[in-house]
Amino acid sequence: MASIATATVKPARRVRGRLRLPGDKSISHRYGLLAALADGRSVIHHYSSGADCAATLDCLQRLGVSVEQRTTDPASASSGPGLEIQITGRGLRGLVAPEEPLNAQNSGTTMRMLSGIVAAHPFTTILTGDASLTRRPMRRVIDPLERMGARILSDNHRPPLTIIGGDLHGTDYTLEVPSAQVKSAILLAGLQAAGTTRVVEPAPTRNHTELALRAFGVAVTSGGSAIEIQGGQRLAARDLVVPGDLSAAAFWAVAAAAMPDSELELENVGLNPTRTALLDVLERAGAKVEREIQAEEGGEPRGLVRIRHVGMKPLVLGPQDVPALIDELPVLAAHATFGGELVVTGAAELRVKESDRISALVRGLRALGADIDEMPDGFHVRGARRLRGGHADSLGDHRLAMAFAVAALGGEAPSMITGAEAVDISYPGFFATLETLCE
Ligand code: S3P
Repeated sequence: MASIATATVKPARRVRGRLRLPGDKSISHRYGLLAALADGRSVIHHYSSGADCAATLDCLQRLGVSVEQRTTDPASASSGPGLEIQITGRGLRGLVAPEEPLNAQNSGTTMRMLSGIVAAHPFTTILTGDASLTRRPMRRVIDPLERMGARILSDNHRPPLTIIGGDLHGTDYTLEVPSAQVKSAILLAGLQAAGTTRVVEPAPTRNHTELALRAFGVAVTSGGSAIEIQGGQRLAARDLVVPGDLSAAAFWAVAAAAMPDSELELENVGLNPTRTALLDVLERAGAKVEREIQAEEGGEPRGLVRIRHVGMKPLVLGPQDVPALIDELPVLAAHATFGGELVVTGAAELRVKESDRISALVRGLRALGADIDEMPDGFHVRGARRLRGGHADSLGDHRLAMAFAVAALGGEAPSMITGAEAVDISYPGFFATLETLCE
């Protein structure tokens, strides 16, 4: 296990600059997984440099997939820090039995999406993870995959999962919680199953899997809240560029929106409408946000986001807002500490992320001096008083470490953030970039 690092964050007057983001974590996972199932060699440019997406590649290699990595991606010059990955796919249902358990490390997306893939293979796979991942709920993928014909053993629906795969059949399944990870697991199992698979979402979630499947040549239909896929379709290898990660951009967007006289330009950011709710919310909270779509590849638009502080207005977010903002709620809480106010309800799902993101967020922001209340399904931040600065613990959760760092910019005194190394999960280099943007 990596050693626990503490980062010191000094107060800043404002943030200014222009920057590029790491490759989108969600899209990187999907391109990696689909390339592994495709016929032929795919090249993925600007693949996320984070540890979660590396865990996906490691698991794929243990399933017999050839993965080659170039750290100096020729496309990086134009698309920011990233990796070029070459994957030679094994074709539909062509993975080989792993000799050892597969370790998804900290990555829920790896575990859930890979479950849908290995469930359709005629061998047994053990999927495990780190201390955080082995606490997270998996019944949400176990139920639908068992309904499709797999057998999955676990201790009280927690990892490790022992997946006894085989011939699957299609299903018609309504998700209990809006989750793109679960939707994706079922669609990936459905791709390899006999007949039709239909997934109904209680609320829209990110649609990267649907778009990526189409990019690899698979027909997927979406209408209303249902997505349908026909099993047995083969995937054609592709050459694709991953856009910059909007959920990583979110930390800088919030800093620029919250601090007077700030202005940032974020280049090459993914602007898929199922991911951009944060930008709409920052506008509602008083920031000036401009976006310009400059390219589209694999169905994923990307472009420039310019964001500027204008003022701070209070925000109320309810259950209907949560699925589209699920990863950005911690940093929106940090935003409110700069003189705003934020009430979030209907977000109990935050309690089963990489940490209990409600209690750990409340504890961390309070330690920095915030006025914040915890609720069973959310929190309430009042930003009337400036933070004094203090010592916050991310509990090893990458998004909390980065949200606390942004909040700490508004402190009266420097702050310390324990578990700062967790940023490597999705954003290696986060603290170095922070230094370059702050004035
Ligand atoms: C993700 C979906 C979300 C999100 C996670 C990445 C994905 O999880 O929190 O960081 O790539 O599909 P849920 O869909 O389970 O809410």
